[in-house]
Amino acid sequence: MKLIEAKDYEDMSKQACALMVNKLNELDNPVLGLATGSTPVGLYECLIEKYKQGEITFEHAVSFNLDEYIGLADDNPNSYHYFMNEKLFNHINIPNENTHVPSGVAENYDIECEQYEKMIKDANNIDVQLLGLGVNGHIGFNEPGTPFTSRTHVVELDESTRNANAHFFASGWEVPSRAISMGIESIMESKEIILLASGEKKAKAIARLINGDISELFPASILHKHSNVTVIADKAACAKLK
Ligand code: F6R
Repeated sequence: MKLIEAKDYEDMSKQACALMVNKLNELDNPVLGLATGSTPVGLYECLIEKYKQGEITFEHAVSFNLDEYIGLADDNPNSYHYFMNEKLFNHINIPNENTHVPSGVAENYDIECEQYEKMIKDANNIDVQLLGLGVNGHIGFNEPGTPFTSRTHVVELDESTRNANAHFFASGWEVPSRAISMGIESIMESKEIILLASGEKKAKAIARLINGDISELFPASILHKHSNVTVIADKAACAKLK
């Protein structure tokens, strides 16, 4: 695992953006694994900028998002699908049919999970997967205790995750208690992984990730077993590193 210490959020976003730009230019049909949340927003802004400047194109890109809340349709402003449209997809030239976000309103979640896995396999797996880091060590919505062998599945969200994400929700809306998430084994099949972390609130999790043991109680720790992982964390997130 390679650790890059960035100065601040902007520097973290720019460094991640540079890696993504290289990947997009290197591959004919890049398959991107995307994340939502506060962490990748600056990276998405940078990618939009690079696209507008003509440095990259998403014409032949395919994307798979990590997760979606159960009960929220893609046109619900609180859904991750809506977030992706707003923060990235609406501003770049990725074909709509090439973007994939698990459905939060599937009739049958077993089928939805199987189909999601199949679509990723059919795309010949993810070339570069972006990850944020939960304060509890989650990746995707794989909460502590999730088996490392998990595939795309329905998860119960931890109270800490629901509290951490409450600020995204419009008033009158509660954070759903369940989500559909790519599993840990599914994430580990990505060819390359970039994990981003910013701010003091992630410092404990970054220290645990870098210095701690590999345990299902801290899902991100599995990344030590992947051969191509880059962690880009800003100074505040690195504050508790030995
Ligand atoms: C989001 C996701 C989550 C977040 C994590 C960090 O698609 O899968 O694992 O990356 O909860 O969230 P932020 O970036 O809001 O701190």
